[in-house]
Amino acid sequence: MTNIAVIGLQWGDEGKGKIIDLLTPQVDVVIRCQGGNNAGHTIVLNGEKRVLHLIPSGALHQKCLCVIGDGVVVDPKVLIDEIEGLKAVGFLQNPKQLAISGNAHVIFPYHIQIDQLRETKKGGKAIGTTGRGIGPCYEDKIARRGIRMSDLVDPEILKHRLEGNLQEKNEYLQKMLGAKPLVFNEIYEKYNSYGKYLKNYIANVNLVLQQKVKEGFKLLFEGAQGVGLDLDHGTYPYVTSSNTVSGGMATGAGVSPKAIQHVLGVAKAYATRVGHGPFPTELSDSVGEHLQTKGAEFGATTGRKRRCGWLDLVWLKHAVWLCGVDSLVITKLDVLSELKKLKVAMVYQLNGKKIEGVPSCLEDWEKVEPVYEEWEGWNEPLEKATCFDELPKNCQKYLKRIEDFVGVPISILSLGPERNAHIHLRKIM
Ligand code: IMP
Repeated sequence: MTNIAVIGLQWGDEGKGKIIDLLTPQVDVVIRCQGGNNAGHTIVLNGEKRVLHLIPSGALHQKCLCVIGDGVVVDPKVLIDEIEGLKAVGFLQNPKQLAISGNAHVIFPYHIQIDQLRETKKGGKAIGTTGRGIGPCYEDKIARRGIRMSDLVDPEILKHRLEGNLQEKNEYLQKMLGAKPLVFNEIYEKYNSYGKYLKNYIANVNLVLQQKVKEGFKLLFEGAQGVGLDLDHGTYPYVTSSNTVSGGMATGAGVSPKAIQHVLGVAKAYATRVGHGPFPTELSDSVGEHLQTKGAEFGATTGRKRRCGWLDLVWLKHAVWLCGVDSLVITKLDVLSELKKLKVAMVYQLNGKKIEGVPSCLEDWEKVEPVYEEWEGWNEPLEKATCFDELPKNCQKYLKRIEDFVGVPISILSLGPERNAHIHLRKIM
C-alpha cells in the first residue's frame, strides 16, 4: 500500500488536477488538506473542461471517497454549488462519497469583503489575492475565533458565534475600511440554510481516515497551490495563508506524516505565477507571451493572465527538499516544442555574487537574478510519443538534466490537457 501526496512545486497551477484525476482510479480516498476555493483544479473530460475549487478531483470516479480535511477553509455557498453541479452531470450521486471535516473553518461574507477591500486599499502593493476571503478566514482560525463546519450545522452555536464575530468585524469594516456594516440576519439565515444542506456530509474525518488506513485502503492527499505560495516557505508576504508543503498535508488531513509514503512533486516544464510577488525567471518578452498563449495560461479561479517564465531549477531543488519529494511529474512539456533555445535558472545571484539556495527576505527576493544555462530546444510535437525513447533527443536531455540537478527521478510526463496525454516512466504506487 502506498499513500501518496501530490504537491505543486512552483506557484500553483502546475497541473495537479489532471495528475490526481489520473491516479484516482488506483486509490480509495482523495483528501483536500489546505486552502479553499482559491484553488482551481482543471480537468478535461471527454473534451469538456471542468474546474473544481473545493471538492477533490476524485469526485469524478464513483468509487472514490472525497474528503475535505481539517485544514481547508470552506465557502459553503461555493461548495453547495459545486456539489449540485457535479450531481447534475451524474457524479456524486451518493452523499457518502463526500466527507467534510467538522474542524474545517467557514468563510463568511466579511472575510471576502475584508480580503477585497484590503487589496484595493494596498493599491500597487496588493498581494493579488484571489479575493475569496482565504487570508481573513485563516486569520480568524489562528486568532481562535473562527467558526467551523461543526458550528455551521448547529443553528444555536452558529448564532452565538456569528453574533460575537460580526460585532467585531463590523467595527473593523467601518472604521478601518470605510465599508457599510453587514446585517446579522441576512448572513445568519443564509448560513443556517447552508448548514442544513451540508449537515449530512459532515463527518469525523479523523476516524474515517484512521479506519481507512487500518483497512489498508490507499489514500491520495491532494495539495493545492504550490510551494512558492507556502505561508512559511514561500515568497512571503506574497503567499497564500496555508502550508502548501507536504508537511501541510499531514496536519491538514489529521494524519501522521508517516501516513504519506510517496510525495509526488508536480512542476511545469517552465514556470508561471498569478498574483504579484517575486518571480526571478519571469519573461516580459515575446517568449513569455508565447508560453502564455500556447500554454493557455489563465488562472483557473480568477481568469487572470498568468505571468510566465523559464524553468527555475534553483527553486525546484529547494521545493524538492522542503517536501521530501520522491519523484517528479513534469507537465506541459508540449508547450516548449518549437522554441529553439531553452533557458534554465541554475543559481541565483544577489548583488553580483552567486548565493546558495534561495533568499529569505522580500527585498533580496526582488533583487535576485537568475544565472541561466542555455539548452537546445526541439521542434517536433510530442503528442505521438508513447515512451521516453520516442521523445526528441533534446527533450530527453532537458528531462535528464532536471532529474540530475534536483536529485529525484521523473515518474510521469504530461504532454497535453487530455487524460490520456501522458507517459508513465516509473511505478509510483
Ligand atoms: P489567496 O490565497 O487568495 O489569499 O491569494 C494569495 C496568493 O496566492 C495570490 O498571489 C494568488 O494569486 C495565489 N493563489 C492562491 N491560490 C492559487 C492557486 O490555486 N493557484 C495559483 N495561485 C494561487
